[in-house]
Amino acid sequence: MKVLKVLFTLFFASSFPDPGYVQDLKDMSFVDILRLYEDTSRLSAVRENDVKFFIFNRGVEGVQQYHGSSDKIDHQKDTKILVHGWLNNRKITWYKNVTEAFLAREDCNVIQVDWNRVARSAYISAAVGTKAVGQQIADFIMSSDLDTARIHIIGHSLGAHIAGFAGKALKRHNKVLSRITGLDPAGPYFGIFWQHPEERLNKDDALIVDSIHTDGGKYGVDFALGTLDIVVNGGYSPQPGCIESFGMVTTLGEALGQGFCSHARATYYFLEWMNGGSFVCMMCPHWNSAPADCQKRLKLENNLDGTITGICRATTNKHAPYLS
Ligand SMILES: *[C@@H]1O[C@H](CO)[C@@H](O)[C@H](O)[C@H]1NC(C)=O
Repeated sequence: MKVLKVLFTLFFASSFPDPGYVQDLKDMSFVDILRLYEDTSRLSAVRENDVKFFIFNRGVEGVQQYHGSSDKIDHQKDTKILVHGWLNNRKITWYKNVTEAFLAREDCNVIQVDWNRVARSAYISAAVGTKAVGQQIADFIMSSDLDTARIHIIGHSLGAHIAGFAGKALKRHNKVLSRITGLDPAGPYFGIFWQHPEERLNKDDALIVDSIHTDGGKYGVDFALGTLDIVVNGGYSPQPGCIESFGMVTTLGEALGQGFCSHARATYYFLEWMNGGSFVCMMCPHWNSAPADCQKRLKLENNLDGTITGICRATTNKHAPYLS
């Protein structure tokens, strides 16, 4: 059996050179999934070189930078930091799309964080690891001498909590991030009722902490945790358009990807939002408020300045473009 496994691994390792770096779950082959299954039955602690930083700006495309040596970062410009979630890596398509969208819109630094090795371990070890990954991002920011008032971190799923831990670590040095956007902040482990706000993303982690909630109670949290929480289409799965496409699933990878459809949808909403789309909000006292208890319709654009706070309940179209 062992021999077979070794042969099997050798054979497939040679035909797929970069196993951890498939783009999206839906693009995974049967072999990729077997590998993922193997990796996610392991526990991994965060080691020093597990968190990698790749810089993009209008003159630099994806150059890796290290603590204390970040010569490719332009200190005159604002910096956006992207953080992926469980099972993902820097090849995830929302990284590419959001990076391109930022650079088309403004001359800034975009840092793609890759914590693939730990992200591809058992969920619980990836979740526990978010604190150490956040600490490393904070260390990187400090060793690169970046101005936290010009930093916006965008994190999906576990990445949202990583952003929160980076913010907390910076605050211990009296530095405050300008903004954190949580894209459907991860629910399992973080959403349980005894979890203290200091142990997850919370509203004090940056000047502005906004979140887009799309899969509450499943892969996302189902409560407000920021200065502004956008609860989209009720905030639960399935998001419109997510369920019907089950009929079109033809590969195992697509089926796996489909299970994350509502959770991933937050990244699509964010991309449209930063490209000029807006959420039409009913500002409500609670996540689950009845429409009659909500007031004030407002058009929410991405350029937040901190004056709008609370819970925005918004609906979207079923297909792209989702926002209005
Ligand atoms: C990224 O852009 C490509 C090409 O426009 C699109 O097919 C894909 O769905 C987008 N993915 C995300 C997550 O935005």
